[in-house]
Amino acid sequence: MPQAVIPTPGSELAAWWADAVVYQIYPRSFSDANGDGLGDLRGVTERLDYLKRLGVDAVWLSPFYRSPQADAGYDVADYRAVDPIFGTLQDFDAMLEQAHGLGLKVIVDLVPNHTSDEHAWFQEALASPPGSPARERYIFRPGKDQEPGSGDGLLPPNNWQSIFGGPAWTRTTEPDGTPGEWYLHLFDTKQPDLNWDNPEVHEEMESVLRFWLDRGVDGFRVDVAHGLVKEEGLPDWAGAAAMVEGQQAGHHESGDAPGAHTDAEEPHRAPTPDAPASPYLDQDGVHEIYREWHQVLAEYDGDRMMVAEAWVEPAERLARYIRKDEMQQAFNFDFLLAGWDAARMAVAIEDSLVSAATVGASSTWVLSNHDTVRHASRFGLKDPTTFPKGIGKEDEQPDQQLGLTRARAATLVSLALPGSAYVYQGEELGLPEHTTLPDTARQDPSFFRTLGAERGRDGCRVPLPWRSDAPGYGFSSAQQSAAPWLPQPPSFGELAADLQDGVESSTLELYRSALDLRRRYSLGSGSFSWADAHDPGNGVLAFQNRDVLVMANMGTVPVAVPEGYAVLLSSIYDVGNLASVPTDSAVYLVATGTGA
Ligand code: NOJ
Repeated sequence: MPQAVIPTPGSELAAWWADAVVYQIYPRSFSDANGDGLGDLRGVTERLDYLKRLGVDAVWLSPFYRSPQADAGYDVADYRAVDPIFGTLQDFDAMLEQAHGLGLKVIVDLVPNHTSDEHAWFQEALASPPGSPARERYIFRPGKDQEPGSGDGLLPPNNWQSIFGGPAWTRTTEPDGTPGEWYLHLFDTKQPDLNWDNPEVHEEMESVLRFWLDRGVDGFRVDVAHGLVKEEGLPDWAGAAAMVEGQQAGHHESGDAPGAHTDAEEPHRAPTPDAPASPYLDQDGVHEIYREWHQVLAEYDGDRMMVAEAWVEPAERLARYIRKDEMQQAFNFDFLLAGWDAARMAVAIEDSLVSAATVGASSTWVLSNHDTVRHASRFGLKDPTTFPKGIGKEDEQPDQQLGLTRARAATLVSLALPGSAYVYQGEELGLPEHTTLPDTARQDPSFFRTLGAERGRDGCRVPLPWRSDAPGYGFSSAQQSAAPWLPQPPSFGELAADLQDGVESSTLELYRSALDLRRRYSLGSGSFSWADAHDPGNGVLAFQNRDVLVMANMGTVPVAVPEGYAVLLSSIYDVGNLASVPTDSAVYLVATGTGA
């Protein structure tokens, strides 16, 4: 007897995003049209046909705004300008027009928690005295010991640590050269946090939203959506700073559950459905902001949307970001963090579907992005639930073949779940993480701020291989081109897009087939119930979505295909008469006689 149908209200949502497959473009590493070794907007435009053919519905572009690139563009100096390294506003408009012409929606990144220190506002703040309106746009404070007339302010205002490592406060120098106030930056020193208690900040960000909505974008991916509001009084907090709630900064020990605390000395407030974990993440006040933005988007036609980047747990707290009057979606990082583990994946799936249902929203499914080790490499580690903060040549090296085999299977799972799926550029080619990047090539501030303890995120940001026989594996389409901004590993050669195109067993064709079946069987807007074969304790994940039975084998022995089913698609075999689902694979099955 199949188990109860788990509510999937996304199926009732008519908006395009409710079941969309969104392809994440990391512009500096996607495609380089001008030959400078760094991707650009014209490069994106040139590849839109490829994305259309892949079968995705939308693209999300990581930041391409004017920026000193201290955090690869997540340090914005001008929210309304395109950085010259990526092109011009005209290039953006041309890209948008072509995408829309192909029926692809376009989501852009919004970075509202912090600006660049080179933003005009921050420059003005530095040039203005303490207590001035210019300083009120950011979070400036005197040092802890800096009472008026006494103390020298040597201590930062509180003990918060930057998510990239090191203190979350930097001391300023006043225009007359004397040491001055401190400013808060949850991330790099060059990313000062905005003060969301200031109405001027609200007005400015609304105006930025309108600027891009007026140009025609379909939505926003909201960076650090859980970080904008800080607890009143900025109280000390003994917990460790991390993007992921409850996750310790530094290397995640193999065998620890993500979210586990590896250092017993560090007391944490455990997040509960009613209370946040830290004084600077997931504060209840953030929701007021998203209600304001919801209203702004509602003034525009065409189902404009927002998707929250909020590393929040438990799932009930994440669901608060997607209440009817807030954002439309939130990334489901619990699914990403589950690793190659049927029991954990099953919990993540069910929690997400159930909690999204309570607020009438659809779920999202994500396995990789520009901040995490690519799943084709994570799943090849001895413990495939490990979530390392980058991999260096001194670290355990993943089994590339095993990782890719499992990644292909996990992808079939994620693309068959009801809701919206996010695909990170290059995963459709089966790209691994670059796990042996020389330290001299690294650029991620988290590598430097942790003195190398975190290897950082460069390994998942390596420029894509488009042509196996071209310099830089065809990353640049220009006649003459500089070397890609990060070196590519030799394995990128055999994974180049041109070698996979039309090759039935390739990962690229697997994605195309899966996306095609997802559309033909309307899986994104489908229903969900665990199937008879579901046995997570033995590594078997099995669910029914409309006419398709999905089985993934994360266990150690082959699992029989139920009688009366034919294979539509398998992650390791061509469609055929499989009698069992081998270890480390997944299949789409259909009852004989109901095939499309
Ligand atoms: C999350 C982004 O995804 C990441 O790349 C960035 O470093 C931080 N937010 C800070 O903006």
